[in-house]
Amino acid sequence: MKAFSVIASAALLAVVFVGCGARKPATGARGGAGRQWVIGMSQCNLGEPWRVQMNADIAAAAKPHPEIKVIYKDAQNQSTTQQAQVREFMDQGVNLIIISPKEAKPLTEPVRRAYQSGIPVIVLDRKVQGEDYACFIGADNTKIGRAAGQFLVKALNGRGNIVELQGLMTSTPGQERHKGFLEGIKGSNLKIIFSADCKWLEPDAQREMNSALARFPQATAIDAVYAHNDPSAHGAYIAAKLEGKGREKTIGFVGIDALPHEGVRYVREGILTATFQYPTGGKEGIETALRILKGEKAPKNITLGTRIFTKDNVAQGGAVIE
Ligand code: FRU
Repeated sequence: MKAFSVIASAALLAVVFVGCGARKPATGARGGAGRQWVIGMSQCNLGEPWRVQMNADIAAAAKPHPEIKVIYKDAQNQSTTQQAQVREFMDQGVNLIIISPKEAKPLTEPVRRAYQSGIPVIVLDRKVQGEDYACFIGADNTKIGRAAGQFLVKALNGRGNIVELQGLMTSTPGQERHKGFLEGIKGSNLKIIFSADCKWLEPDAQREMNSALARFPQATAIDAVYAHNDPSAHGAYIAAKLEGKGREKTIGFVGIDALPHEGVRYVREGILTATFQYPTGGKEGIETALRILKGEKAPKNITLGTRIFTKDNVAQGGAVIE
């Protein structure tokens, strides 16, 4: 049975390689028996739980497919390291690259070069500039930001002072979550009284929130924090609790990501007022990679959905944002 499936899949792959004209890999890139497609995955960092989840989602989706092998690289939050990783994958002659870029501008050129050399590149979650890649997969960050704004307008009855703890503003989700939020609060009396680039990092968010609390010392001066991700929302909560000496009780905290063991748990525990799901796209990345490698057509853009989790709906698994 096992022998049969090995022979069968080898035969199938032979057909796929010859018949569909997948890019011919450099010698040695297909594994010992020459039966595997090699996918190079460049992750911008593995210091945040959401990124660990993305790699886990990729690994889980790839597991039932012995015809692919994924090589992972961690750029440790350095764009220059990530640029080098794309070049290394090119030199290795991988069959396809998946990248979740740290920043748009510095990664645009390496992605373009790889793509133009004939290696399909799938970009996950954060965008590069232009369209020189095979497929972009990610949720609609402008829509999520807009939904967060609309949620707070409603929760605060149209009036209130907001602290915005932004993600890295040289990355597209930070830019889009900000733009969407402004759209969401437009026409209301919600005002952003303090904002800072926290680079997606909890310690930075905690520090910036300390500054916001010091600058607005009155107990009721801040109504809500809109943080671009859950670690930042959590950092702000801790700051309000410790530095603000109990001010977490009068401030609402809204985040984005909604990992089950992170943001969703915070909502359940009453730490966050709401979080919006930001799916990793790892599963869709592998599904799309397989389509491309088999010579099938893949869409240029795949937009993933989102859900909102609040204390009222968390037990039901949140609610879809249309
Ligand atoms: C992890 C992360 C997430 C965020 C995403 C945006 O690095 O900061 O928390 O939603 O990146 O790209």
